[in-house]
Amino acid sequence: MLVNVIGMGYIGLPTALMMASHGVNVIGTDYNKKLIEQLQTTGKVFEEKGLSELFDEARRKGIRFSDQYQKADIYIVSVPTPYLKKSRKIDPKYVIAACKSVLEICADGAILVVESTISPGTIDHCVRPLIGERRVHLAHAPERIIPGNMLQELIHNSRTIGADDPETAETVKDLYASFCKGEIVLTNIRTAEMSKVVENTFRDINIAFANELTKICHEAGMDVYEVIRIANRHPRVNILNPGPGVGGHCISVDPWFLVGDFPNLTPLIHAARNVNDSMPEYVYKRIREIMTEKDIEDFSRVGLYGLTYKEDVDDTRESPTLQLLDILRHKHADKMPLVYDPFIKTDMVQNQVHNLSDFLSNTDLVVIMVGHSELKNQPELLNGKAVLDTRNVIFTEDVYRL
Ligand SMILES: NC(=O)c1ccc[n+]([C@@H]2O[C@H](COP(=O)([O-])OP(=O)(O)OC[C@H]3O[C@@H](n4cnc5c(N)ncnc54)[C@H](O)[C@@H]3O)[C@@H](O)[C@H]2O)c1
Repeated sequence: MLVNVIGMGYIGLPTALMMASHGVNVIGTDYNKKLIEQLQTTGKVFEEKGLSELFDEARRKGIRFSDQYQKADIYIVSVPTPYLKKSRKIDPKYVIAACKSVLEICADGAILVVESTISPGTIDHCVRPLIGERRVHLAHAPERIIPGNMLQELIHNSRTIGADDPETAETVKDLYASFCKGEIVLTNIRTAEMSKVVENTFRDINIAFANELTKICHEAGMDVYEVIRIANRHPRVNILNPGPGVGGHCISVDPWFLVGDFPNLTPLIHAARNVNDSMPEYVYKRIREIMTEKDIEDFSRVGLYGLTYKEDVDDTRESPTLQLLDILRHKHADKMPLVYDPFIKTDMVQNQVHNLSDFLSNTDLVVIMVGHSELKNQPELLNGKAVLDTRNVIFTEDVYRL
């Protein structure tokens, strides 16, 4: 049996490597030729704990990479699924293009698994019509892993497989069971689509609640972290951590699919998205307050620590820091802050520095936008500086919080 994984990104690559290292015959395909060349040579494409060891193991077990789609028994499509900014609906163009390419090459009897996160009904509306009368079996196997702990979670998370018929469901389940020790729940395709989007929407709403509490507590002169710590002693309360905004390609995107498809039924989901999207602006206001208090004249003496959307990863998509920089560009284009992130080695934004001591020696106010271990484990480096810690990772008393 040959498996062709389509899309060698943050999700497709670890999945392909994991299958191959567990004895599955896998070819990873991506239309990005440069990426495929990298995979065929160095293998290093993004930072993730344990990924390079897994890569070596998968190579020993025979994984191959190609920019061409292969004649295979099972296809796993793991391509991006952004949303359309105007309608807020899913933009299915990458999924449609990948499925069309699969259908050009696959034999009858093949199984086409969409692993990308998709809004409920996407397979019925966008993929099934491409298949027409052909005997190609469809399934949806959404992914739940978290960057930073992907490989552990690939093995231990429970997962969902939606399929049209029990035989397809069982074949896909056997494939994932080659490495997944968690429970594998079988259902229909629409329920699988919906449950994945619902999981991320649940997270978004709960983060929005914590962020709203932060604003209330700041206004009322209270410590939100103490309030949350005490409230969470209630056996049925579990308030999440506030933060500078929600980034990444999942939680800040997937709830929009529901808002786009059900605009009259989603006031709560929509409001939560707006609360989370308002956080970079709120961080901007907090910085201004602290600058006034500390007599810091302009943003050129402010440093933003962290460009990624979460700690200890190199993924910057939709990151709160990028959103904050957009706000600053509109308001203070001539006096932009310094920016530093240990995981981003190339120049991505204006005034980016690549050395922590240069960054610290040229800033009077450090804004911790990401709680990378580098700084978390060396809080003494911040001695003598004004610090706004948006992630609650530095526990000295004089640190400003959200
Ligand atoms: N990144 C995450 O943490 C995460 C977690 C769970 C689910 N997901 C979902 O997984 C899916 C993939 O996300 P990702 O983060 O891996 O994306 P990504 O951008 O890292 O990777 C996608 C890859 O697909 C390739 N590609 C796009 N269209 C193609 C085509 N037609 N043929 C061949 N290759 C093609 C791109 O070149 C890219 O390398 C998305 O639906 C996302 O929502 C992501």
